[in-house]
Amino acid sequence: MSEQIDSSRDDAQIEMHAQNEQKCPMSLDEVNLFVPGSQPTWHESYKFLHNEAPVHRIPGEGLAPGADAFILSKYEDIAMVVRDPARFPPPRYTEAPKLEGDETDGSAMKDIVFSPQMNAMQVSMASLRPNMDLWKKHKRELTDPWVGAGADRHTKMITDTVDGLIDEWIDEPGSIDFVERFSRPLPQIVMTTNLGFPLEDIPQLAAWGSEQVRRYVHGHGHRNLLTAAEEADQVKVLSEFADYVLDHVKAKRANPKEDMISWLTQVTYKALDRKLTDIEIVGIVYAMQLGGLETTQYAIAEQARLLCENPQVFADLKAHPAKIKLFNEEVLRLRAPTQGLSTRMTSQDEVFQGVEVPAGSLLHMRWGAANLDPEVYECPRQIDLDRKPITRHLTFSQGPRTCPGNGISRLEQAIAWERLLPRLDSLSYAEENDFEYQPGIMMGLYRLNVDFTKAG
Ligand code: HEM
Repeated sequence: MSEQIDSSRDDAQIEMHAQNEQKCPMSLDEVNLFVPGSQPTWHESYKFLHNEAPVHRIPGEGLAPGADAFILSKYEDIAMVVRDPARFPPPRYTEAPKLEGDETDGSAMKDIVFSPQMNAMQVSMASLRPNMDLWKKHKRELTDPWVGAGADRHTKMITDTVDGLIDEWIDEPGSIDFVERFSRPLPQIVMTTNLGFPLEDIPQLAAWGSEQVRRYVHGHGHRNLLTAAEEADQVKVLSEFADYVLDHVKAKRANPKEDMISWLTQVTYKALDRKLTDIEIVGIVYAMQLGGLETTQYAIAEQARLLCENPQVFADLKAHPAKIKLFNEEVLRLRAPTQGLSTRMTSQDEVFQGVEVPAGSLLHMRWGAANLDPEVYECPRQIDLDRKPITRHLTFSQGPRTCPGNGISRLEQAIAWERLLPRLDSLSYAEENDFEYQPGIMMGLYRLNVDFTKAG
């Protein structure tokens, strides 16, 4: 059966309820995807971009002085860009750009002595995957076995975690903050267990995780810029995290356990025919922690939202659990947790949709808009479990740099609903809800109060 549910209704609901909301755009001139509070207007903004400016210039917002940035919103353009990393390489930031309103003279960054741990991610990228061939091998050999294709190894751990979280509230009178009690702790526990950190460290790890994603939440504009003072502050806090990870790497090298960090200390990286250094492992762990927490949390929270708004889908999934994965993919498409990233450059002059884009321009890939491209998706704003292939969306990107953690994230989402639905007879919005989204480029709901009835 095809689920033809009109999700424009819930767009309207978000707009009605969102706090700090920005006015819904009435024309292209009013579209601004990068101001706090704009989340509820994004779906409406994408219509203007698709119809009037599918390649939308942001003057002067490129990297070099005078260079421009361009928002790409068409599926075919973004898919082409991410599949051709030689023609569209990642940007190289050489210095922190000065922001309007930044009171510092920008010298703070120069004064910071970066500890080797703090630079671990760059160090590990430079030494373990300096080119696309090694990038692919790095993924296949070092992360896939734990968070990619091999994530199935975590099935029992994730199932136990999900069951444990449900047990904590299922017998309470039927109302909870779903984010606080389920969608946030699940990826926190899963990633902490995967890496092999003690579970009691989760509050501290969560604080470091928030610091890691600070630029994607509180950063300015499409480049997610922080002021020099904010950068300096972040470096200080994250140095502590890097030291913490390094201590664990050393301890696990000496005394390996059954976890990803221990395994990384022992494995031979065949692509380079050698073992990994401590700092390289710190770099990999840093990236896992950066990518692995909030994103999955937001995906599961949006799935809960769409189930609250579509009780017939709730009933259908309960009766046909095989459809859960299809539903999850549709919500990933409709509500991509990472809506856009300015992470590719043009290496030569290009023409997208008839628009000339000079070499050296910065490209903002708006995954969330490409997923609603009417040229690719019939009735793009509807949930349709019969779309084929349903995984075609760009939420995890595509090509050689596709998200390495999509395996574990999809597994968490699937198990979450496979275990939640049999234990619930209903799920709906509680009376009190502000539907407030965090600022930045993520679609991240702060809280979600739901009423539920326990399955009889
Ligand atoms: C719903 C959940 C998630 C979404 C929507 C998501 C989305 C993305 C996107 C769009 C990219 C950029 C790819 C590109 O530039 O082409 C990315 C990269 C990345 N993601 Fe995810 N991600 C998710 C979950 C995860 C998880 C669970 C992990 C870790 C276990 C992870 C780790 C990473 C890393 C490390 C990168 C950087 C690419 C690299 O260094 O190889 N992500 N992700």
